[in-house]
Amino acid sequence: MINSKKSKIWYGGDYNPDQWEKEVWDEDLRMFKLSGIDVATLNVFGWSKNQPDEDTYDFGWLDEMMDKLHADGVGVCLATSTAAHPAWMARKYPDVLQVDFYGRKRKFGGRHNSCPNSPTFRKYSVRMAEKLAERYKDHPALLIWHINNEYGGAGNCYCDNCEAAFREWLKERYGTLEAVNRAWNTGFWGHIFHSWEDIVLPSGLSEEWYGANGRTETNFQGISLDYMRFHSDSLLECYKLEYEAVKKHTPDIPVTTNLMGAFKKLDYHKWAKALDVVSWDSYPRFDTPHSYTGMMHDLMRGLKEGQPFMLMEQTPSQQNWQPYNSLKRPGVMRLWSYQAVARGADTVMFFQLRRSIGACEKYHGAVIEHVGHEHTRVFRECAQLGAELQKLGDTIIDAKFQAKVAIVFDWENWWAIEMSSGPTIDLRYVDEAHKYYKALYELGIAADVVSVEADLSSYDLVIAPVMYMVKQGVANKLEQYVQAGGSLISTFFSGIVNESDLVTVGGYPGELRKLFGIWAEEIDALLPTQRNRMIVSAGTNGMKEEYECGLLCDLIHSEGAEVKAVYGDDFYQGMPALTVNKFGEGEAWYLATSPEQAFIKDWLSQLCSSRGIQPIIQNVPEGVETTIRYKDKQQYLFVLNHNDQAVQIDLAQVTGTDLLTDRSLTGGEVELAAHDVMIIKLS
Ligand code: GLA
Ligand code: ZN
Repeated sequence: MINSKKSKIWYGGDYNPDQWEKEVWDEDLRMFKLSGIDVATLNVFGWSKNQPDEDTYDFGWLDEMMDKLHADGVGVCLATSTAAHPAWMARKYPDVLQVDFYGRKRKFGGRHNSCPNSPTFRKYSVRMAEKLAERYKDHPALLIWHINNEYGGAGNCYCDNCEAAFREWLKERYGTLEAVNRAWNTGFWGHIFHSWEDIVLPSGLSEEWYGANGRTETNFQGISLDYMRFHSDSLLECYKLEYEAVKKHTPDIPVTTNLMGAFKKLDYHKWAKALDVVSWDSYPRFDTPHSYTGMMHDLMRGLKEGQPFMLMEQTPSQQNWQPYNSLKRPGVMRLWSYQAVARGADTVMFFQLRRSIGACEKYHGAVIEHVGHEHTRVFRECAQLGAELQKLGDTIIDAKFQAKVAIVFDWENWWAIEMSSGPTIDLRYVDEAHKYYKALYELGIAADVVSVEADLSSYDLVIAPVMYMVKQGVANKLEQYVQAGGSLISTFFSGIVNESDLVTVGGYPGELRKLFGIWAEEIDALLPTQRNRMIVSAGTNGMKEEYECGLLCDLIHSEGAEVKAVYGDDFYQGMPALTVNKFGEGEAWYLATSPEQAFIKDWLSQLCSSRGIQPIIQNVPEGVETTIRYKDKQQYLFVLNHNDQAVQIDLAQVTGTDLLTDRSLTGGEVELAAHDVMIIKLS
């Protein structure tokens, strides 16, 4: 349980009374009660109000608000407010300001605007966290700490303090300059460093530039990868300093910071180790597939080995920062809230509780809209959900997820793939992972999304798409997993480099060559308009005879693996496109190209059914999502209808009670309205 003081699904979100006159506060509290809101995230951007100058701290408004909320039964997720520094600090201590990619010193403005290696920032952010912890350590409303906000949300810093810190970071990682030169292959383009001072940050002034497809390109992958690691670590260090400051006074209050799903800049697997609870902000675009949102929830759940997570933010209605900010259709906010719960969230929280009147988020949705009263569609929907969550009480809290399939996701691999400079600019790591996830999602098969360090032994099938970077120990670990009977899938462009982006010589896929029983001699990149075909071996159950493929085609030779499909066209027609290698008790599949989605679905369907990995319910209509959460011996089946129309669902033998309606279900056909949800306590 996140905090036993509140043993139900927390319901609430970001609340900024500090931006309002006190006159509205009681009105807010009245409406929180009406809508079942019982958690408020306070003080996210309160720094400049709480500390008007270097020596003055004034928490008057916060004292009053904490007490008021508590009196009304609303708990507090208390932010440390350090995601935007005060203007006086920027004026007085310019080291707090960042230097951008082109070497320009920034002025005061925006948010997420502090240099993570600024001595001023570190000093005052930690002091603020500590002051808050000292002050509120015994406050009964305090449920959890929310450190900073969406770390990494703005540009990176390239200032002199960061540069000096980078050199120290390198000394720590490599020990000697010789080791750095080796790791970065600095003989290339005459880059050999003879002094630590020779090393500068890779920016638009040195090694990097903004290329096509939103990528940051670099001359030196080794340097740029280390800078990304360093930058992620620098922010993590800031987080940890605040973490320690609050823990000193409140050792029993959990601590989190709100993450952002597949947010590229921060290695969340590393971060998760420093969080007590994972929390994240879910903002699907108007055209985001539901399966993608599902994958993000699963990625976040996987950060802490399946421990329940917090949905920290979502909009009740619309966003403001997308090109087209569609309203969530009636029922959709509720549906997406339950999607998070279905995948392991124990909170449903919004940005924001009351809509602001000025600056760039005034058109961002809120529970309380500009009209100021409760007679709105959005409020009614929020209140309905609030009542349902009250009714659910602690039933689902702490219930776990179980999956027999895992998808491996690795941030450093992602960085390396997308700064590789060849063979294609169209390869997007997250999209590749999503293809597999989507197929499983549509098949109704539960998957975990896990780190490359995760224990794989409980999974029957592990999918590691585009394992381009093979870090130390990973090849060995995968071999052991397959040896012991596991089934592994990897794809094209795998086993190419080590963690410094240095190629493993002796034939691709390098360290994975023995495991897959293949050698990839060359890699062809196809134009967006070009296709090849995969011709599937006769006698492969349930598959078509051929499928399209494209993007990249590894030209592979079998070295013992059985060939299951071959290319249909081009000069490599007849060469293997899909192979399987028996290895110990298990098998290792290598898919040498990126096929059309139908292939992935047909193939995974075969692989899963032959391993006894079953969908949760057979044959659900398209657009219906199913998951199960497990608690002790009890199972809770979530059925979510993402369609705009009602659907008929065949529950077959499933019996139980829908916790939302108390309807008892005795198997067979049931109708589920458009955007509606059932949470069936199975009997
Ligand atoms: C983020 C931030 C919030 C707010 C919302 C708007 O998630 O954490 O402060 O800006 O976006 O969507
Ligand atoms: Zn800096």
